[in-house]
Amino acid sequence: MSKERAQWGSKFGFILAAAGSAVGLGNIWKFPYITGENGGGWFVLIYLICIAAVGLPIMIAEIFIGRTARNSPVGAFRTLSTPGSPWLGVGWLGVVTAFVILSYYSVVAGWSMHYVWLSLRGVLAQVPVDQVAGLFSSGDAAHPGLYESPWTNLFWHLLFMAMTIGIVIGGVQHGVERWSRILMPALFLIMLALLVQAALTPGFGQALDFVFGPHTEKLTPASVLEALGHSFFTLSLGMGAMITYGSYLTQEDDLVTTAITVSVLDTLIALMACMVLFPVIFSYGMEPAAGPGLVFVSLPIAFAQMPAGMLWATVFFVLLTFAALTSAISLLEVAVSYFIDERGWARRRATWTCGIAILLAGIPSALSGGTRLFGADVQAATARLGLRGGAGLNWFDTLDYLASNWMLPLGGLGIALFVAWRVGGRAREEGFRAGTRYARLYWGWVWLLRYLVPIGMSVVFLHAIGVINFAASGG
Ligand code: PFF
Repeated sequence: MSKERAQWGSKFGFILAAAGSAVGLGNIWKFPYITGENGGGWFVLIYLICIAAVGLPIMIAEIFIGRTARNSPVGAFRTLSTPGSPWLGVGWLGVVTAFVILSYYSVVAGWSMHYVWLSLRGVLAQVPVDQVAGLFSSGDAAHPGLYESPWTNLFWHLLFMAMTIGIVIGGVQHGVERWSRILMPALFLIMLALLVQAALTPGFGQALDFVFGPHTEKLTPASVLEALGHSFFTLSLGMGAMITYGSYLTQEDDLVTTAITVSVLDTLIALMACMVLFPVIFSYGMEPAAGPGLVFVSLPIAFAQMPAGMLWATVFFVLLTFAALTSAISLLEVAVSYFIDERGWARRRATWTCGIAILLAGIPSALSGGTRLFGADVQAATARLGLRGGAGLNWFDTLDYLASNWMLPLGGLGIALFVAWRVGGRAREEGFRAGTRYARLYWGWVWLLRYLVPIGMSVVFLHAIGVINFAASGG
């Protein structure tokens, strides 16, 4: 523990790495489809409010914990409270959540790589439009789609985990930061190119109206909860990823501006993803409310009809893979940093051990496949995609349900309560104000963490256990 602690090479490097963690499948794949399901418009507005009022305060709290304690989640809670304190449980929960999420996140990232491969090989172009959906799931054992092909899933899961391990093993500066510096600007450029292309399609105006117009038709109380839950997932909050990344910062770095920058970048990419997807979806007569299949079924169908569609499809799935990769490295880093800080392991040993453990833990997810991710209703989702297994949760779904609906919000609540009520007021105030021009927002931040966030999260939990029962969701 007394070893020299790793540090980011620059503040910009940290911002890119943290934005890399935040921007992932949650932005490019999930956000557009839940926006589609909830009818766009007001849902987007509510999501933006959740990001600003709940996500941002917790992100500042996480980076504050990491930077102050200069330790990975478990050690950070110990440093800032007492050795045997129950708060350590929040750190533990974070490490376990990292294992759980990465084990299935990698499988979905694998789907994305499979689609890069399909478009590069020209398969997406050759298949008749009415059979594109069958590439994902055919429901037919004789001509299996990706969903029915355990070995294909396993292969991509393995490859994706190998890439993630390869980056994390390089360390904070030479692995995580270096790759974030390459992948994040690439991601942004690809997104811009796709956006320009989408702006030229006839459906762009309709998409603009759908995403930003005052639509309330499909909005329900459950939509609000969905927006809230997603703000956690998308900003990588509630499991100590930002604590871990924050622990490689120096004390002088301005916490608030950094957190605002990361949140704004994340939100921007999510909105851009909508403006890339929906114009294409509308132009080619697809449904915006297609659910989880929006990216893997509807979009390829739309691309297949578009001029140079295969080029854009390839570019899009490369983008999705990059986004998933920079998020996956943060998930692995949480687990790895625990073994380095708490057990004194060398990075190489910690990365191989955690990486292989997660690889193995992901096998059931790769084999069971899955369609419902990040909190949507499994039966509705499977039915929408016409997939098997609509009657219950499979392994993959169960993990996702536990992680998104319980572990992340619970961790987030713990982090908010810890910083608001347990950490010494002076340390907290100094930590917040250090070097920032937003010092005057300090009391607003504390107020949000003390009252609004815990109340908001409690509503989520009460809803999840059925004590409060809002009407059926819009999806
Ligand atoms: N924020 C990532 C996404 O939107 O895809 C997912 C994620 C990464 C969640 C890292 C949590 C985490 F710690």
